[in-house]
Amino acid sequence: MMKKWWHDKVAYQIYPKSFADTDGDGIGDLRGVISRLDYLKELGVDIIWLSPIYQSPFVDQGYDISDYYRIAEEFGTMEEFDELLEETKKRNMYVLMDLVINHCSDKHEWFQKALADPYGKYAGFFHFVKGKDGKAPSNYRSYFGGSAWEPVPGTDLYYLHMFAKEQPDLNWENPALREEIYKMINWWLDKGLAGFRIDAIINIKKDLDFPSFEPDGPDGLASCVKMVEEVQGVGEYFEDIKRHTFAKYDAFTVAEVFNMKENELEEFIGEDGHFSSMFDFSAHMLAQGENGWYNSRKPSFKEWRDTIFASQMRMQKVGHAANIIENHDEPRGASRFLPEYAQNEAGKKMLATTSLLLYGIPFIYQGQEIGMTNCRRSDISEYDDINTKDQYMEALRAGCSVQQALDCCYENSRDNARTPMQWNGEKGAGFTDGTPWLALNPNYTEINVEEQDKRADSVLNYYRRLTALKKAPAYGETFTYGEFIPDYADQDGGFAYHRKTEDQDILIAANYGTEPCTLKLAGTSAEVLLSNIGNADIRAGEIAEKGTVTLESCEAAVLLLK
Ligand code: GLC
Ligand code: MG
Repeated sequence: MMKKWWHDKVAYQIYPKSFADTDGDGIGDLRGVISRLDYLKELGVDIIWLSPIYQSPFVDQGYDISDYYRIAEEFGTMEEFDELLEETKKRNMYVLMDLVINHCSDKHEWFQKALADPYGKYAGFFHFVKGKDGKAPSNYRSYFGGSAWEPVPGTDLYYLHMFAKEQPDLNWENPALREEIYKMINWWLDKGLAGFRIDAIINIKKDLDFPSFEPDGPDGLASCVKMVEEVQGVGEYFEDIKRHTFAKYDAFTVAEVFNMKENELEEFIGEDGHFSSMFDFSAHMLAQGENGWYNSRKPSFKEWRDTIFASQMRMQKVGHAANIIENHDEPRGASRFLPEYAQNEAGKKMLATTSLLLYGIPFIYQGQEIGMTNCRRSDISEYDDINTKDQYMEALRAGCSVQQALDCCYENSRDNARTPMQWNGEKGAGFTDGTPWLALNPNYTEINVEEQDKRADSVLNYYRRLTALKKAPAYGETFTYGEFIPDYADQDGGFAYHRKTEDQDILIAANYGTEPCTLKLAGTSAEVLLSNIGNADIRAGEIAEKGTVTLESCEAAVLLLK
């Protein structure tokens, strides 16, 4: 495998609106990011991905861009962005922007011009399609609920929006649109960006016949995903983008891809793939309900673990996936993946250990490193997220009580991950001096950076040790390129795998169960490289004496086998 500059890096996602506010308006800003770079460096972070910071009406929190060349006023100025780039370079860090090019905002100049002249040049940047029998061109349901088609005022046309109606889809079939987008991407890369996280990219290819599908819900609509799954040839667009932009800069790209066809993995992230990497969402997909959050599933531990194992086996043959526990669209991993008895510091460290050392590039999401959790709200009005509001209504329509619908939100809402970063235990949590745009999770008084920074056995300090181990010169090669080999799969609650090169064998082992479990080691001795509950000496003794290692409930250990 050809080595790439980003293979051995640790990445961190910043959700700027909720990261650090320096001007007291309750909204995180670029100054806030700059002020925390040393914190991130100390955490072992090399690459920062910034969720969108472009000018936006924030209907979908910045994923609706009204000007690709401007920084949102709320976040700061282009000068501050340039300063951020400089400051990261000084620290040998890299910045990724979020590339949202399946759609833009309805306030974008292109869309405004299209509305003003629905048969003119800019209408061709979007999907303006004639209705059928006075109705929408097809029966697609948008990702955020309701029809994916919205009438173009004063015409018999409709425009397509796979997300909110304020996020019109761009027409990738149009060379003029593609050229504009490539120009924009290169403009940012010329500034010195290291690359992009690429939003919702699988959606850019449409079947221009827009066929209707068998309805799959009581609303008589069919998920627009069906069209995405059926249409062929999205790869040609990806290749075109890469050739005109990323490839010229050796940029790192990580794609958000759902609904990929099975045989496309190599084409997507293989040695000469369209993207450097893509997120592995396989474990997150397990919870998906057939109709939405109200019938989301709770996978068993074994199903969860085996899904990760299967995904690793598939991915490592092809390329480097990006591994996450959570992101801005998912609930907090500690609340979702840890059984109740493990929702404590030991459990959070265990989850970090088994996740960060997998084959691939770990992306830590802000607050994950201190073990931030889901946040309970008592009324739907306390939520901001457009998707949450839709899913809440969906649950009520399906017959859930208000309490049940709120429970669905507690478990699934994207706002769980969007509450402000908890820097300290004082009013505003060190996030802001003003009123935070989204209410804090009240547990900031216990779970915060300041407290954990001082305490040697905190989740935060464990993350620091974990990233340091992952990148340590003595083991870095193994954690980056070593083969992933699952082991002890028949142990109840056991989550164990090797990372193995020709001359090194490292075992990562954890016990997600309630009872202690004893693993017989294959070799004659082992060195404990890391332990999450301070049992390193005890384990070393046991290994030397019996050649076994016993893990208590919620214990994780990293062992260099000899
Ligand atoms: C991606 C983003 C999500 C956004 C959607 C539409 O899934 O991660 O936050 O709502 O795309 O842009
Ligand atoms: Mg601010």
